Amino acid sequence: MREIDGKCVLITGAGSGIGAALARRFSAEGARVIVTDIDGDAAAFVAAELEAPHFQLDVSNPDQHAALFTDLDAAGLTPSIVCLNAGIAVNGSVESPDATWQRAWDVNVMSHVYGMREAIPRMVANGGGYIVTTASAAGLLTSLGAAPYAVTKHAAVALAEWVAITYGDRGISVSCICPQFVDTPMLGAFSESSEETRAWVQSIAISPEEVAERTLEALAEGRFLVLPHPEVERFMRNKANDVDRWIAGMQDLAKGLEPGA
Ligand SMILES: NC(=O)c1ccc[n+]([C@@H]2O[C@H](COP(=O)([O-])OP(=O)(O)OC[C@H]3O[C@@H](n4cnc5c(N)ncnc54)[C@H](O)[C@@H]3O)[C@@H](O)[C@H]2O)c1
Repeated sequence: MREIDGKCVLITGAGSGIGAALARRFSAEGARVIVTDIDGDAAAFVAAELEAPHFQLDVSNPDQHAALFTDLDAAGLTPSIVCLNAGIAVNGSVESPDATWQRAWDVNVMSHVYGMREAIPRMVANGGGYIVTTASAAGLLTSLGAAPYAVTKHAAVALAEWVAITYGDRGISVSCICPQFVDTPMLGAFSESSEETRAWVQSIAISPEEVAERTLEALAEGRFLVLPHPEVERFMRNKANDVDRWIAGMQDLAKGLEPGA
């Protein structure tokens, strides 16, 4: 499925950052975008600009997913492209409280399970569809100082791979967005970091519009991995070639930088 014009596209976390950029980009391509966010006002703001419907959706709540998809069916707005984008930056370590880990797990991973649980059977029944998940380069490599984020983003990548493998023959395509830093409010996770760390983050950060552009290119090609920072592919190869050398390099990097998302 490569055509976007006229397609119904549901986006989570679309009130800000990458989700809002995806909403604007899909809308510019003629898609009928459905804007959702836990922040109902933010969703309404983006939706007003695009003259799109909007819904308050907490992605960590399975009942809200089920109710939303039922409402969309009734309105004739069953999405054929679903962007499971909402996520949160969670710093911490193995010493962080269980509640910190659980929140990261619910918002960054189970949200994808809940969205797929509703979307995939409908897509299969309708002859196919496209699932786009926003993971992170942290899901392929790591995230210094942010174990819950790195671990849950790895799980998000694993889930996307599994769905692509399992449902490919039933018309379901999957793309997984894995950027490094993107200039969105999420970078506020670095507000307490040193000037040096913040400068490093900003030097790597790209715009959410660029992420959206690279995502639509991947959709057009039916490509699984969306790597808006092309160097991430090289880092992945280095890691796969010699994981001990990669860990030693990351240890050196960790010495010079403070924790962040
Ligand atoms: N900004 C980065 O550097 C970066 C890098 C790699 C991956 N990502 C990922 O991109 C995705 C989007 O992040 P962003 O950078 O645009 O951040 P953002 O903070 O600008 O936007 C995230 C949006 O998700 C919403 N949200 C948070 N919790 C939610 C929930 N429980 N239910 C529904 N909506 C919720 C927020 O209200 C917000 O509108 C996330 O999954 C994030 O992990 C971001």
